[in-house]
Amino acid sequence: MKTVSTIAELRTEVHAWRSQGEKIVLVPTMGALHEGHLSLVRMAGDSGDRTVVSIFLNPAQFAPDEDFDSYPRDTDKDVEKLRPLGVDLLFMPRREEIYPQDFSTLITVPGVAEGLCGASRPHFFSGVATVVAKLLNQCRPDVAIFGEKDFQQLLVIRRLARDLDMDVEILGAPIIREPDGLAMSSRNAYLSADEREKAPLLYQTINEVANAIAVGEAIVDLLDAAGKRLTQAGFEVEYLEARDADTLAPVTTRANTPTRVFAAVMLGKTRLIDNVAVP
Ligand code: PAJ
Repeated sequence: MKTVSTIAELRTEVHAWRSQGEKIVLVPTMGALHEGHLSLVRMAGDSGDRTVVSIFLNPAQFAPDEDFDSYPRDTDKDVEKLRPLGVDLLFMPRREEIYPQDFSTLITVPGVAEGLCGASRPHFFSGVATVVAKLLNQCRPDVAIFGEKDFQQLLVIRRLARDLDMDVEILGAPIIREPDGLAMSSRNAYLSADEREKAPLLYQTINEVANAIAVGEAIVDLLDAAGKRLTQAGFEVEYLEARDADTLAPVTTRANTPTRVFAAVMLGKTRLIDNVAVP
């Protein structure tokens, strides 16, 4: 697995493959890799001829009071995890490579980036959209893969790629969970033993809500009861909502269009997000 840190090196490698007609797949990450990330890398192997993984902890998507400084970093472990997976190229740029001193462009995606995580983290999706647009331009992959764990992010990136006429297919990958249902996340490392024990209640709750919506129970009442249950259990609920899976429009009565239940909570100092499809 070759590792490069400059855009010029990345372009040289990818250009050689592209000129041979090979299909290139990019998996962007911020490192602290877990099985969720690795499932995207495996999917990349099945989706094209060459897999490029990027690791870049993107400061632009963290607000000053968020966890950029404490976000887990372990490059050596990340490299060891990627090595057996047939990754062709690992791109690990330095901060100045992505954001030189005079960098000033910011991409915003009104609509899908508003509401849910966009409401409490207004800086977040423009930080994500900007860095992902840059990575897509730098690598020019045929396919890029993102997890449904960050479902709103996936929709923001789909919209961005379409609106900016990027010649790339954006693929979504299913959420990988711990055996007890907790969605895998680099931030799970922040949880204390007590919190870790409690955390699966988030998935259990939204899963129950989704199943109850499917059999026709009143959505508003279900969400209300589920929110109370989480609060009683010690979660601070940021949002708990049913939304259209394509447009993210709020869903208050059972619709025939694909619907998902979305939640963000604080458990102690750790922010957890999760979502599940209404069957
Ligand atoms: P990061 O949180 O490192 O996640 C990288 C990719 O892994 C994202 O597409 C995310 O949705 C996916 N992922 C994380 N946990 C997952 C899980 N349990 N199951 C399936 N997929 C999972 O998301 C980001 O980084 C950044 O915002 C990024 C897109 C790299 C831009 O900086």
